[in-house]
Amino acid sequence: MAKIAVLRGDGVGPEVVREAMKVLKSAGGRFGVPLEFEEGLVGGIAIDMRGAPLPPETRDLCGRSDAILFGAVGGPKWDSLPVDRRPERGLLSLRKELQLYANLRPVTLFPPLIDASPLKREIVEGVDLLVLRELTGGLYFGEPKGIRPAPDGRGEQGVDTMIYTTPEIERIARIGFEIAAQRRKRLTSVDKVNVLASSQLWRRVVTEVAKEFPQIELEHMLVDNCSMQLIREPRRFDVVLTENTFGDILSDEAAMLAGSIGMLPSASLGDGTALYEPIHGSAPDIAGQDKANPLATILSAAMLLRHSLRHELAAASIEAAVGQVLAEGYRTPDIWQPGAGLLVGTRHMGDLVAQHVA
Ligand code: IPM
Ligand code: MG
Repeated sequence: MAKIAVLRGDGVGPEVVREAMKVLKSAGGRFGVPLEFEEGLVGGIAIDMRGAPLPPETRDLCGRSDAILFGAVGGPKWDSLPVDRRPERGLLSLRKELQLYANLRPVTLFPPLIDASPLKREIVEGVDLLVLRELTGGLYFGEPKGIRPAPDGRGEQGVDTMIYTTPEIERIARIGFEIAAQRRKRLTSVDKVNVLASSQLWRRVVTEVAKEFPQIELEHMLVDNCSMQLIREPRRFDVVLTENTFGDILSDEAAMLAGSIGMLPSASLGDGTALYEPIHGSAPDIAGQDKANPLATILSAAMLLRHSLRHELAAASIEAAVGQVLAEGYRTPDIWQPGAGLLVGTRHMGDLVAQHVA
């Protein structure tokens, strides 16, 4: 029996997770994968009910589960809290404590969605890349961090530190090369070597690790240039390896290649329990309205089956079901266009995918 910790969180989190569970149960039934779900509080709702964004019992639950299915955290209600007490801290603490350093964000365009992207057809057709984001280092966790009095006495200073060590870069680089070996054997390492010391070390270490993988073609690219190339010629990319903050930004940009940020799943892997979540946030403006696209979370559940439960067949069947439902014309508002497609809500979209899997 595989135990899945379910952390719904805030905003649209609960709705999209509900649909992903529906699909997981359907796939579990069809492929004979026994699944057990246990819920835990995280984010704003955990602050409200337990006084902390990651209560000890949630931490505990994650530690004794085989995988974590995560929705989203945050919302206007908690916006005035300092960064170390906000809902987002719940997610960041989980990433750090479970050492989920490798964040896989595959960007594929489902062919029926070719016109959902704001970009031209000929640019996005056939896009298939993967952003590999380092998830436990860089500006997110570097010390010193905080707001403190400015040394010259004029107001305050806000401080974040971008820091990377050799072992941190080595382990994520190895994952990048290993993933590239399973794909089109191209790896683009993205940095800001012309300005940042952490990028100088990053580029040096990645170049060194590349020697272990002679079959992979490695290129280095500056992050500003990469953000342009992603729009200019996205098909040139296979695996995009980058540090935490750059990966956060580039993956939202890359989501537009897939038609909507509501389409992008992710897997956060480390040495222990892995976490699966859509790359989008809690979208408080549409929460509770049956408007959110559940496909990013459903596709994250497919990644859970693949990476944590090693059930490739069940994972692939979910991905195929998503493709079929889209081919039949069903669209949530974010991927719908006037005159094309049958507009459906969150729940209906989840039902359709679950039926196709069953
Ligand atoms: C993401 C999100 C998170 C991040 C937020 C919610 C802390 O934007 O997963 O991309 O910045 O990593
Ligand atoms: Mg983000």
